[in-house]
Amino acid sequence: MKIIVVGATGLIGREIVNALSGTHDIIEVGHKAGEYRVDITSKSSIEELFKKTGQFDALVSAAGNAVFKSLAQLTDDDFMLGLKDKLMGQVNLVRVGLKYVNNNGSFTLTSGVLASEPMPGSSAISLVNAGLNGFVKAAALDMKNGIRVNIVSPPFATETLKALGMDTSIGIPVAKFVRAYKESVEVKRTGEVIDVRKFV
Ligand SMILES: NC(=O)c1ccc[n+]([C@@H]2O[C@H](COP(=O)([O-])OP(=O)(O)OC[C@H]3O[C@@H](n4cnc5c(N)ncnc54)[C@H](OP(=O)(O)O)[C@@H]3O)[C@@H](O)[C@H]2O)c1
Repeated sequence: MKIIVVGATGLIGREIVNALSGTHDIIEVGHKAGEYRVDITSKSSIEELFKKTGQFDALVSAAGNAVFKSLAQLTDDDFMLGLKDKLMGQVNLVRVGLKYVNNNGSFTLTSGVLASEPMPGSSAISLVNAGLNGFVKAAALDMKNGIRVNIVSPPFATETLKALGMDTSIGIPVAKFVRAYKESVEVKRTGEVIDVRKFV
């Protein structure tokens, strides 16, 4: 399959590329660097990307920013960043990508377990993740020509907790996330929120 990986330069994206590149033709898409780049906050940038890549069989997104801060500290701009970047950025990858995905192709987005297992400081991220999960479940019902859409919901990666100076015991090594992404791309699932912990 020809698979586009958006966020390919990131912690999760790099693992997805490693896991899929043995058996598939991967187009790695970065934000600030690389032959293929996109800014998912811009619909025209997404359109330009797909004009360059051409038709594809699957798109996997592990891109998107949102702000982790207590409710009292979150500003309007903090909320808007998550809505414009991680939420609508990934929604627009699907909306624009529908013109370029082959029949029986698929989209796989990324949310996170904070959607339904919040913690102090996660309100802006939980909002975005829950919105994405709802979008995918509903969008799958409108897909035609065998096109599928799922979302992978990871817990904290051990590497991320370590970088943030947090307790790593609640994390899972990022290398173990990839089975969930493979499940979405290679198995005929659709409209599902795929919890990484079920595929570790
Ligand atoms: N790591 C975790 O523990 C964890 C847990 C649950 C959910 N998640 C979610 O998984 C996703 C990826 O996380 P990660 O830890 O791999 O993040 P990361 O290491 O920061 O990587 C993010 C990737 O997205 C790209 N990106 C950033 N802004 C972009 C934009 N506007 N347009 C296009 N690409 C953009 C980055 O490119 P550049 O490097 O060029 O900026 C990078 O390739 C995020 O949505 C995160 O919320 C992560």
